[in-house]
Amino acid sequence: MNGLVVLKIGGSIITDKSSSTPKSLADAIERIAQEIAGVSGSLILVHGAGSFGHPLARQFKLTEQFDVQGIIETHRSVKSLNTMVVDALTLSGVPAVPVHPLSCALLEQGRIRDMQMAPLREMVQRGLVPVLHGDVVMDSARGAAILSGDQLVPYIAQKMGAERIGIGSNIDGVLDNQSKTIPDITPSTVDRLRVYISGSSHTDVTGGMLGKVQELVELADKFGISSRIFNASTPGNITRFLKGETMGTRIQKDK
Ligand code: IPE
Repeated sequence: MNGLVVLKIGGSIITDKSSSTPKSLADAIERIAQEIAGVSGSLILVHGAGSFGHPLARQFKLTEQFDVQGIIETHRSVKSLNTMVVDALTLSGVPAVPVHPLSCALLEQGRIRDMQMAPLREMVQRGLVPVLHGDVVMDSARGAAILSGDQLVPYIAQKMGAERIGIGSNIDGVLDNQSKTIPDITPSTVDRLRVYISGSSHTDVTGGMLGKVQELVELADKFGISSRIFNASTPGNITRFLKGETMGTRIQKDK
């Protein structure tokens, strides 16, 4: 889909991730909504769960066992965060609609096996902005499992033929061993950079930066979809990303 952008906003930006109970950051949610409203174009937004998802997933041991009450409470909680994000976007004039992964995706051993893409395609074609989120999702092998927004983004981008991906977290991009941002990564440079990237993985809570980078490098290489990992807690950076400006780390195909 020509010009489509898939943007993930990490749970650490829109919630207080250090809190053991759900705590949203209303000012950040409003700022993000306004930045998105300020730039036109086709967009699919994915947001993380932060303190609305991780503590409940841990409490009910959802990565280890099937728990009906855990599914209900965790989904209910992440859905309430999604409602806040969609409401803020709506108030800012963005035609946002909620899309809950629990209702349209199926996992197998924690990986997306199937997901309904036709409604997303129609939404985007008609100018709507689907807003998805990290969720608890049915799993054909385990009963249910946690689906991170980090897995949703490359999957959706590939299925929809997106042009660009943005990963907005609270770090300035992919950092080297001196905590400096690596500006560009391509399939031919990733091997050389691997040792530095794994060194900075402690800053990432959902499975490590290296895994994320590798997945994005593969997407660039195979499908020509470029991505940018940037600091979305810095005001103005989402606007910059949407406008295609340079900041953070860009991952793209070799020229
Ligand atoms: C996690 O989603 C989903 C649940 C814990 C239910 P993410 O992995 O996308 O969330 P963040 O960005 O780490 O908060």
